[in-house]
Amino acid sequence: MCGIVGVIGKENTVEILLNGLRKLEYRGYDSAGVYVNDQNGHDYLVKTKGRIAALEAEIGADVTGTMGIGHTRWATHGIPSDSNAHPHVSADGRFYLVHNGVINNFAQLRDQYLADVDLVSQTDTEVVVQLIAHFAQTENLSGKEAFRKTLALLDGSYAFLLVDRTQADKLYVAKNKSPLLIGVGAGFNVVCSDAMAMLAETKDFIELHDGEMVTVTKEKVAIETLAGEAVTRASYHVDMDASDTEKGPFPFYMLKEINEQPAVLRRLAQDYLDESGKPVIEPDLLAALDQADRLYILAAGTSYNAGLAAKSVFETLANIPVEVGLASEFGYNTPLLSKKPFFLFLSQSGETADSRQVLVKVNEWGYPSLTMTNAQGSTLSREATYTMLLNAGPEIAVASTKAYTAQIALQTILAKGLGEKRGVKSAQDFNVREQLGLVANGMQTIIDEKDFINQLAQNYLATTRNAFYIGRGYDYAVSLEAALKLKEISYVQAEGFAGAELKHGTISLIEDGTPVIAIITDARVASHTRGNIQEVRARGAHVLTIAMEAVADKEDNLILADIDPLISPLLSVVPTQLLAYYTSLNRGYDVDKPRNLAKAVTVE
Ligand code: F6R
Repeated sequence: MCGIVGVIGKENTVEILLNGLRKLEYRGYDSAGVYVNDQNGHDYLVKTKGRIAALEAEIGADVTGTMGIGHTRWATHGIPSDSNAHPHVSADGRFYLVHNGVINNFAQLRDQYLADVDLVSQTDTEVVVQLIAHFAQTENLSGKEAFRKTLALLDGSYAFLLVDRTQADKLYVAKNKSPLLIGVGAGFNVVCSDAMAMLAETKDFIELHDGEMVTVTKEKVAIETLAGEAVTRASYHVDMDASDTEKGPFPFYMLKEINEQPAVLRRLAQDYLDESGKPVIEPDLLAALDQADRLYILAAGTSYNAGLAAKSVFETLANIPVEVGLASEFGYNTPLLSKKPFFLFLSQSGETADSRQVLVKVNEWGYPSLTMTNAQGSTLSREATYTMLLNAGPEIAVASTKAYTAQIALQTILAKGLGEKRGVKSAQDFNVREQLGLVANGMQTIIDEKDFINQLAQNYLATTRNAFYIGRGYDYAVSLEAALKLKEISYVQAEGFAGAELKHGTISLIEDGTPVIAIITDARVASHTRGNIQEVRARGAHVLTIAMEAVADKEDNLILADIDPLISPLLSVVPTQLLAYYTSLNRGYDVDKPRNLAKAVTVE
């Protein structure tokens, strides 16, 4: 949600800022802007509604500098517009500020301190930059001290990057709840919401903690607490190439990421299984899980759906009761907890604010937790007791695909490890290495059939306003994810249903030609799902079936390779990802950047 970048000590500041913003566009694309200063008396502010490409078109050749800040916005306070775009500038023209987060008490601060100031935007961020100028003027404070005083008054989440143009050899930085990193270079330094934005400049980053502020010059990174105590923290090396974040030959990141799924599964097997196929898991983590009487899986969106798909896996392989919760609900409507709970957070980005607010509570309660994430060093990873990395490589398309399958696969490995520790027979009998290999091969077969899936998308979903996915058991969990994928990128109103539930109300929505996509992988319920298909067909539904070979019949549209049905979501989701992809593409939408959305949702 909003991406911010900064650089100091580089001649090609504008290029670095724009490249960084392009990499962060997944965090929001309502408006964008940069402020650059040549430290020689000239500075420039350019900002505009729309995407980075629109900003680029606005930046003239005369705009150059050796330091600067940039922002790509996902609107929270105020509509997407030129005036609400960041950077925001104080009325006296001295301070420039970019912000990721939400300031809850901005209206109160505005009324208390800024009655005389004509605000030009509807944003909470402008109130902050005007407050800094206010304290600098009225209390004769330095820019840094005015910033510190302002920070102490704020209630909310922020990653800030501030320029005081009277001291253009410094960037001021502060963080609370929203992610922010400092990238370290030789004779220059950079600041970014996500390391991906600056991999072309450096691979060494320093993480910041909540309640810290930093003064960055081209030579130095000085971290301190808001109380002014100096903090020393070593940098860490990010083992990723700038090319990992490129689209390569694919027209969209989403298609690239769908294609990567077989490789992601093979990598997880390599990283988390030993030569005999036994899970390699931190012994302390396994011991803590073994002590637990219930596993609470918490997440949002697609990650929540990955938790739903893994519930049966944990219960079957590890014999542990599982409750899967939407993090945004769980934190404020907490159910009665078991005596020895263990909390598992699923988060591709590791930054989702809804999940983090639960983790903060879990830490206060003193319970153990694990974060499964794709982002090394992310907030959820740092703050949980344990971390397991998905190692899926950067996921850039807003619609999550490979993180979903990686999360299910890694949970399966963990469930197998826990089940073996507990002596559960079904875990001992479950050959996870072989199964993941079969899934990877099965995924590849589906991906190779993508042209046919495109045809199905055209036949079933080209013009429809709504669609239903149905399934039972394991297939119900996938139906929810399939529907989310379709609606978020193609704007078709889609719903995932437990097959039998249709007849308890929703079947009244079925009309002539309504697309119903049925997923059938589990022999225990296959005949019942087929019965539900008959019910909707009799009412005119246009039915597409995706079935696993063992339960398939010759009329099915897509046949999946046989794998253990327990982990069938890993495979059955792939055709639904492709159906969503092609529906969006065929309708002419920007598949990677659906409207109103952002990846890494860092506000509650
Ligand atoms: C949908 C999607 C979102 C995320 C959700 C949680 O395709 O990507 O629903 O799954 O915002 O994000 P993470 O996993 O980063 O916590």
